[in-house]
Amino acid sequence: MDEFVTLTYRGKEVKLPLVTGSEGEKAIDISRLRAETGLITLDPGYANTGSCLSAITFMDGEKGILRYRGIPVEQLAEKASFKETAYLLINGRLPNRDELTQLSVRLNDHSLVHTDLKAFYQNFPRASHPMGILSSMVNAMKSFYPELDTLEEEINITVTRLLAKVRTMAAMSYKISRGHEIVLPRPDLTYCENFLNMMFDTPVTPYEIKREAVNALRVFWILHADHEQNCSTSSVRMVGSARVNLYTAISTGIAALWGPLHGGANQAVIEMLDNIHNNGGDCTKIIQRAKDKNDPFRLMGFGHRVYKTYDPRAKIMKKMCDNLLAAIQITDPLLDTAKELEEMTLKDPYFIDHNLYPNIDFYSGIILRAIGIPTNMFTVMFAIGRLPGWIAQWKESMDDPNWKISRPRQIYTGHQQYDYVPIHAR
Ligand code: ACO
Repeated sequence: MDEFVTLTYRGKEVKLPLVTGSEGEKAIDISRLRAETGLITLDPGYANTGSCLSAITFMDGEKGILRYRGIPVEQLAEKASFKETAYLLINGRLPNRDELTQLSVRLNDHSLVHTDLKAFYQNFPRASHPMGILSSMVNAMKSFYPELDTLEEEINITVTRLLAKVRTMAAMSYKISRGHEIVLPRPDLTYCENFLNMMFDTPVTPYEIKREAVNALRVFWILHADHEQNCSTSSVRMVGSARVNLYTAISTGIAALWGPLHGGANQAVIEMLDNIHNNGGDCTKIIQRAKDKNDPFRLMGFGHRVYKTYDPRAKIMKKMCDNLLAAIQITDPLLDTAKELEEMTLKDPYFIDHNLYPNIDFYSGIILRAIGIPTNMFTVMFAIGRLPGWIAQWKESMDDPNWKISRPRQIYTGHQQYDYVPIHAR
């Protein structure tokens, strides 16, 4: 049965249809609102606005549920490969054996990057942030890789190129920032192994690929693979709605992800924990600062627009931290600081009342440190993981029969009309 909500405005009743999602969540369809009433809606930060219908990722922020194409993220983290997860997100179902083999072959074929791109890297100042470099380089890819004849072929190849090359480019930027020779991808290594090898192998110290590190990276990337309409994904969709090419749309997503309130939080968390640790390890002061309304400081790695309970990804990350550090027999004092900080906040009325729990970024940096990733590469690691999600969301928006260019409205609060005053009379 069709459901409606009724809005009464200046004596006129307007029936607005309700849309129901496959998990029962409901939205008021306001697409006729302005035509019928002259009104628009105002929702800063889009906290109550659904921007699209999507069949990719389901999350329930109250219950702490996250599923990709219907499969709980916990199951994928336990059993799937990152490649399978990418295929699932982009194609809507798990690949069979042949499809997975074909994907591996295609990713291997496209894993090299044009050697002329190297010159770009070398001309960035050495201190450049790798996220700025990555965003620029992904945008530059459009100039290096020619267009193909059919749109379908073009999209398939571009998707493969992005999944295969962004990983190579990220490792390349790290090697160049250290002044080291670039390590090329190898056909005998898996997606995760290849990345670690390109990052850490050197002619004088061959990299020993550790099973535990590969597994941690797999889980890290799967947990980051999609998260419905977050800031960077919405940016990809919005820029994509202008029918810009996929490389540029992804480059926009990378730029948005860089922000410390979004993906950049993983770097900010480690810097915060380091700061606490280096100043005697007392978390009290930083908690006080986070609660102080006159201080803009926020506890990094805490809080989420949608999750009002423990982020299910953070639960897996926390467990992974313990398991990984034990397996590779290292200790990290920042893990103790993180646990202490979490314990204190979970008892603190401010954090309880505001529903502030650790998010994915709170423990992920400890894992990345343990496998040797430098702090300024943390958000790049997030970006590689989020790539399949951005691609899937972009594809879905391109195929949407109700596609429109994204173009929000506003309520104007500036001057009303007045006349231009010549300079001598001002
Ligand atoms: N520390 C202290 N207080 C916080 C925090 C925090 N980390 N997060 C939110 N709050 C408080 C706000 O001060 C506000 O308090 P008030 O209502 O008393 O004024 C209330 O909680 C609601 O905060 P909003 O900013 O309205 O929440 P919003 O949903 O817009 O923001 C966000 C979500 C950006 C993630 C926020 O929680 C934050 O800044 N967290 C720290 C940065 C971070 O970890 N980002 C990563 C998010 S996950 C991701 O993007 C991958």
